[in-house]
Amino acid sequence: MTRDGLKKVLITGATSGIGEGLVDRYSKSHNVVACGRNEEKLSKLSGNNVQTLKFDMTEKAQVASAFVDIEQLDIVILNAGVCEYIDDARRFDAELFERVIHANVIATGYCIEALLPKLKPGGQLVIVSSSASFLPLPRAQAYGASKAALSYLTRVMQIELEDIDVTLVHPGFVETPLTDKNDFPMPFLVTVENACEAIFQGVESRKKEIHFPKRFTLLLKLFALLPFSLWMPLAKRIKR
Ligand SMILES: NC(=O)c1ccc[n+]([C@@H]2O[C@H](COP(=O)([O-])OP(=O)(O)OC[C@H]3O[C@@H](n4cnc5c(N)ncnc54)[C@H](OP(=O)(O)O)[C@@H]3O)[C@@H](O)[C@H]2O)c1
Repeated sequence: MTRDGLKKVLITGATSGIGEGLVDRYSKSHNVVACGRNEEKLSKLSGNNVQTLKFDMTEKAQVASAFVDIEQLDIVILNAGVCEYIDDARRFDAELFERVIHANVIATGYCIEALLPKLKPGGQLVIVSSSASFLPLPRAQAYGASKAALSYLTRVMQIELEDIDVTLVHPGFVETPLTDKNDFPMPFLVTVENACEAIFQGVESRKKEIHFPKRFTLLLKLFALLPFSLWMPLAKRIKR
């Protein structure tokens, strides 16, 4: 069900974590199109101001046909993503690498191609990357590379698109099913609610970049400015 007069936002990865939190936050003031694969979770989201779309974004044909009934959108938030680590660098897992790059980068490309024509002039495209893109991190050959690619892609879209405002989101650690699997300390972990409020407010202000929590992301940005020879021993220490 949609309400007349409200802006319409489409959110991918809406069935879990940050995406689910964004559906909750946006549905208070926007019509929401919530996207994901998990049918049970999608049916729970459906209701007040929220319609749902089920598709696998790694399947180009599914993405191409998913939005036929959507006319115009004010905001598109491409948030869906996966995280897998390469545990043993000497046994590079090319299948894992392909899976992560496909889900985080190639599938985002499918969504951009299908959704850009639906965005109104003056609309907004929001892409959720990660602060992992700032620096090379242990075991993140696939995840970090995918997010660095996504940040680069988003920056180019900011240069190229004249009538669409593009926002790049660089979260630090957020407490979600994705990070529940992590077996290492996660400094400055934030709740989904806090993460989604930061994203919502930043998108409302049409910021070019949203990054949080600042005490974590600014530190990483500072390290990223230093020569790699200073970062490498630290990264090796983190690895141990
Ligand atoms: N959590 C963090 O600390 C953190 C930090 C930085 C960046 N991020 C980024 O934030 C985004 C959301 O992360 P999260 O922590 O909320 O993860 P999450 O709880 O694991 O949720 C991931 C979402 O992506 C969807 N998804 C995954 N593969 C898909 C596919 N092939 N087709 C369609 N949907 C797919 C899932 O939908 P289904 O389950 O329905 O398939 C799910 O809704 C990701 O891009 C992640 O890289 C997260």
